[in-house]
Amino acid sequence: MATFVLLFLLLLSLYASPSSSQLDEFCYTGFHHSKPNLTLNGAALIQKSGVLQLTNETSRLKGHAFYPSPIQFKNSTTKTVSSFSTSFAFSIHPEYPKLGGHGFAFTVAPNKQLSSSLPSQYLGLLNSTDAGNFSNHIFAVEFDTVQDFEFGDINDNHVGVDVNSLVSNASAAAAYFSDDSAKHDLNLKGGTPLFAWIEYDSAANLVNVTLSPTSSKPKIPNLSFPIDLSPIFHDQMYVGFSASTGLLASSHYVLGWSFKMMGESKPLNLASLPSAPGIKKKKTKLIVSLSVASFVFASSSILLALFLLRKFKNREIIESWELEIVPHRYKYQELKQATKNFKDSELLGSGGFGRVYKGTLRNPKIEVAVKRVSHDSKQGIREFVSEISSIGRLRHRNLVQLQGWCRCGGDLLLVYDFMPNGSLDRYLFDTSKCVLSWEQRFKIIKGVASGLLYLHEGYEQIVLHRDVKASNVLLDADMNCRLGDFGLAKLYDHGSNPGTTRVVGTLGYIAPELPRTGRSTTSSDVYAFGALMLEVACGRRPIESRSGPDELVLVDYVWKKWKEGRILDVVDERMNGDYDKGEVVMVLKLGLMCSSYQQSARPSTKQLVSYLDREIEVADVGRATGCPPDERGFEDYLNSYASSSFDKSTNGDRSFMSISTSPITTLGEPR
Ligand SMILES: *[C@@H]1O[C@H](CO)[C@@H](O)[C@H](O)[C@H]1NC(C)=O
Ligand SMILES: *[C@@H]1O[C@H](CO)[C@@H](O)[C@H](O)[C@H]1NC(C)=O
Ligand SMILES: *[C@@H]1O[C@H](CO)[C@@H](O)[C@H](O)[C@H]1NC(C)=O
Repeated sequence: MATFVLLFLLLLSLYASPSSSQLDEFCYTGFHHSKPNLTLNGAALIQKSGVLQLTNETSRLKGHAFYPSPIQFKNSTTKTVSSFSTSFAFSIHPEYPKLGGHGFAFTVAPNKQLSSSLPSQYLGLLNSTDAGNFSNHIFAVEFDTVQDFEFGDINDNHVGVDVNSLVSNASAAAAYFSDDSAKHDLNLKGGTPLFAWIEYDSAANLVNVTLSPTSSKPKIPNLSFPIDLSPIFHDQMYVGFSASTGLLASSHYVLGWSFKMMGESKPLNLASLPSAPGIKKKKTKLIVSLSVASFVFASSSILLALFLLRKFKNREIIESWELEIVPHRYKYQELKQATKNFKDSELLGSGGFGRVYKGTLRNPKIEVAVKRVSHDSKQGIREFVSEISSIGRLRHRNLVQLQGWCRCGGDLLLVYDFMPNGSLDRYLFDTSKCVLSWEQRFKIIKGVASGLLYLHEGYEQIVLHRDVKASNVLLDADMNCRLGDFGLAKLYDHGSNPGTTRVVGTLGYIAPELPRTGRSTTSSDVYAFGALMLEVACGRRPIESRSGPDELVLVDYVWKKWKEGRILDVVDERMNGDYDKGEVVMVLKLGLMCSSYQQSARPSTKQLVSYLDREIEVADVGRATGCPPDERGFEDYLNSYASSSFDKSTNGDRSFMSISTSPITTLGEPR
């Protein structure tokens, strides 16, 4: 009997996969028939072959897979996180191998759902509001294949240690070390199986991340980061994987996974793991059919030929330069359907370049704003393409995200995130809308400033917005603001001298030096932002035709009241005095500073953000600007415009001089 029990136990230990004991330890060599099965959500599924697929090649997916029961990470007496180690084999198959898509992360989290997380650059781990909070209790090692500038990623092929945030605490380009200590680059999105080891040493307070193209572990880790995980982990935590796709999608596969507390996780062996789907598999299929019957061979080769032909044809349609454009290229039919054939009832607004429609995409079902650039628009294909490639790569929570685009004959379409609450000017001036509280206004001002700082300093090139104004500030469902319409953005290399081009902008927001120099600068964006700040605080347009001559130009009016020591007179009355006086005065002073005629007296974008974050105290405006906005006032300034060549074709009844409602005023080539 005893022998029988022994034999039974032996058999059990041989067949039980994963093996588990009181010590938290498991090893999956494939996931299909393994018990306990993983907890999956989002796009994650187990393929028939036993491969864990976290996402497929569809845009904006999340996929999570967690070990079903929590792991006891902390020693109950010392309350410190014990050492642990894990290893896994994975492969990433991007839709477009050259461009890639977002990556995935080994994740230790307080729950298995991560339900409020976002896809794309958030990797299904966090969202835009909780990123960075100590209360997240998230530890992740990311294998990232997109360089996200918002999170300061080092490149588009790196590993990083992330604690409660997507800004990696440490990161390194993906690489491995061979036995002779030579370093070799490793392509994470090559579609081949790769092995990763993540180890935490509780005595040394050190996390090591090691990569290799084979199952034998290199001696030198790719990344070492000293950290004590005890404050980050709860006693019990879940371990697993999180992956996401963005505009560009990748399939993420995990082929095998082992984990162990207080010891080295079981080694994995490629031969015993299921193979990730790929070209290899198709070949095997062909060989099998060959050996079965020539009939099957014939039909399958025809099918294969058809398949390849279709693939080839599809590839033909997309020109190579279009592939370089990062955002997704939509089919025209898809957008036509989404906007109900560009029906007037779906019209959200019309700007200088064309009309904006609301659209509902079917798969996945999301609401978008589709900007249709009219055929006879001055914005030609060249500008269009530059707009796509520049905005498509800009990612910031205060910028409207470009989702994709489409070009069909003369029709140029841009697909943006849909902003349910429309534009800021409607909230400021449309009496049917609710009145924004000061808190909301201040948050909007800070948001726009932060978006502008990203454009000016956060990207590899300086991006000038050139049309900052209230109708270009859009509000999402939670009244978070996003700066939109980069139709005028031109990219300049940092440090190079921006060339002179057509003066563009909207009257009331155009810096005085612009018509003279024809040169947009970060300082002219700051000028426009100053006008916007005054507008938000006062609830009045920069130039208000209905007001008396004294109040025609908002800056002059605010300046006058400031000199009289009655600055709070200008504040929007609809707030009923319910605001933080210190903040309001600061915003008004900053607005005046930005509106200075002298470029040198305006703050830089970075200073602006520091002022708004109260890192620096705003000095009194008289001294800070050196001089008041030119005493000549705005009228001379306007008159000087009137002599240049305005585009007067727009409807101008409710505005000054029939031009200021034109969203884009083209002032012609500088003289
Ligand atoms: C996973 O296991 C649970 C119980 O252990 C079971 O209810 C569930 O159906 C299983 N899921 C799959 C996909 O096998
Ligand atoms: C990808 O995953 C999503 C979410 O699970 C699913 O709706 C979609 O049908 C999948 N697409 C493909 C091509 O498998
Ligand atoms: C972000 O996630 C947190 C939980 O981590 C949640 O409370 C919050 O509502 C989420 N925010 C959004 C905008 O989804």
